[in-house]
Amino acid sequence: MYNSETWAIILAAGKGQRMGDHTIPKQFMEWEGYPLYWHSALAFARCAFVSRLIFVFPEEWIEAQTNRLKTLQSDLGLPWLAATGGSRRQDSVANALKLIPAICGKVFVHDAARPFLKPDLIIRLHEALSAPLGGVIPALPVTDTIKTQSEGIITGTPDRSKLVAVQTPQLFYLKPLKDAYSSSVPVTDDASLMENAGHKIGIIPGDPDNIKITYSKDLEMLHKNHCRSFRNGFGYDVHKYGGDRPLKLGGVTIPCEYGIYAHSDGDICLHALMDAILGCICLGDIGKLFPESDERFTNISSAILLVEVLSLARENKFQIQHVDLTIVAQKPRIAPFRDEIRKNVARLLSLDPAVVNVKATTEEGLGFTGRVEGIKCYALVSGMQTETARR
Ligand code: CTP
Ligand code: MG
Repeated sequence: MYNSETWAIILAAGKGQRMGDHTIPKQFMEWEGYPLYWHSALAFARCAFVSRLIFVFPEEWIEAQTNRLKTLQSDLGLPWLAATGGSRRQDSVANALKLIPAICGKVFVHDAARPFLKPDLIIRLHEALSAPLGGVIPALPVTDTIKTQSEGIITGTPDRSKLVAVQTPQLFYLKPLKDAYSSSVPVTDDASLMENAGHKIGIIPGDPDNIKITYSKDLEMLHKNHCRSFRNGFGYDVHKYGGDRPLKLGGVTIPCEYGIYAHSDGDICLHALMDAILGCICLGDIGKLFPESDERFTNISSAILLVEVLSLARENKFQIQHVDLTIVAQKPRIAPFRDEIRKNVARLLSLDPAVVNVKATTEEGLGFTGRVEGIKCYALVSGMQTETARR
């Protein structure tokens, strides 16, 4: 459909003069392994209605950043273009607008200096834009009293209840925005040019976390765990009875007549647990990590594999907070060993036993556990992931 696309401009062509002395402009500083501007790009990429991004870079950075984007683009899943910045912010926007074809009906304009942007704000803006509005912008109430001044003398006190502080992204219909950009009156945001051209601009509640990095001290905000996320991981494992390996559950050898067939030590509790941890950090499963084809893993103790999985969890800044295991077996009876398994699993995970639970159940004689052909375990791991990229 004509005019149906929505594009987003990410402005990264400023000099960051208010940051003081820094070797590189703030938008190119690394945060969580990526340049600052990349975090806004990921937020737009999470919104299905955004079909293309335009990055605006200073002329002297465009080649290096275009190359960097080529190494990152597979995480984006969106096509992108790069434009050259101008001397004022609005010149940078104007350069980007020139690249946008008429198939695009709406365009977001966003400052790369706001790296905490979340998809929620982008979605709310998109939902709020409809005629007769020409654009929608996020706004927050002003808490300080704002005054006007001239040469150090107060000249007025506007009524605070009528004031709002506005953020980016700002969303506009493309055609009126392009027309408004025929003016070169100096402005500090895009909505101002639209207002000057007589368009109605709506506001929606902004996001207080969507802060702009402006001064050097604002860089501290990058270290305040803005990206804590709660994770649940699920794991499941089965082993068949009849082999000659002793039955081990959670690192505890269970004295019984049922040996098991297995490639490693066949500890279903630790296998399910490792898969649940890998689920939390989105790193596949133990089969991928420790393939059966690799002889190094033949006969290996699951506790040793668990050490490797825990080190991956640490690298990914994931902290386990709770573990719940359910062992399903008709025989042997697990209850007498439950507490020992619980304490041993807690020890292997360096956790307080109070946050580890082990349950046992039968399947009432049904299925392969009911026929005493094997044993299975379900594991649920919950925890917190901090300071990682939002991927
Ligand atoms: N920007 C731009 N082109 C310009 C000026 C600014 O693309 N000629 C971008 C900046 O990279 C930033 C946003 O617009 O993402 C404006 O935020 P601001 O804090 O003003 O950034 P800078 O202009 O870089 O900083 P300063 O004003 O302190 O120099
Ligand atoms: Mg500026």
